[in-house]
Amino acid sequence: MAREKLIVMFNKALELEHAARIQYLAHVEELKGLGCEPIIARLKEIAGDEQKHEGMWRECITMLDGSCSMKLAPTYGAKETTKILEINLKAEKEAVDFYTQIYEELKKSKAELKYQYEFLEHSVRHVLIAEQEHIFEIDTLLDKKAP
Ligand SMILES: [Fe+2]
Ligand SMILES: [Fe+2]
Repeated sequence: MAREKLIVMFNKALELEHAARIQYLAHVEELKGLGCEPIIARLKEIAGDEQKHEGMWRECITMLDGSCSMKLAPTYGAKETTKILEINLKAEKEAVDFYTQIYEELKKSKAELKYQYEFLEHSVRHVLIAEQEHIFEIDTLLDKKAP
């Protein structure tokens, strides 16, 4: 049943957001030195977005009558600025890839989800747009660091 499959997918998305937020906040504490303040500010801002996405995925799961995961997808530590940005860029791209899969799955279920579809579709598109913005922002930070 589409609904059950979507609950599993939204819960995996929720675990990705839990991991992303915690990873950003832990990485921020590793950043030291001249010029790191704008990067710290940007990564904290992104972590705040990930927290909003957690809330949106919880609403989607609840609308589908599912229970929300409290687990965390894998996280990766780093200490050096470029490495930190690269790790998070990879995670953002993986999130976009997975949320695109959710979007495709959701479109197949439009008839079945007649009274929930627009809410779910809007939520997925909203988060996808935000993650693409995060990719752009991290790309920009990486370019600025290039000699
Ligand atoms: Fe997110
Ligand atoms: Fe993100």
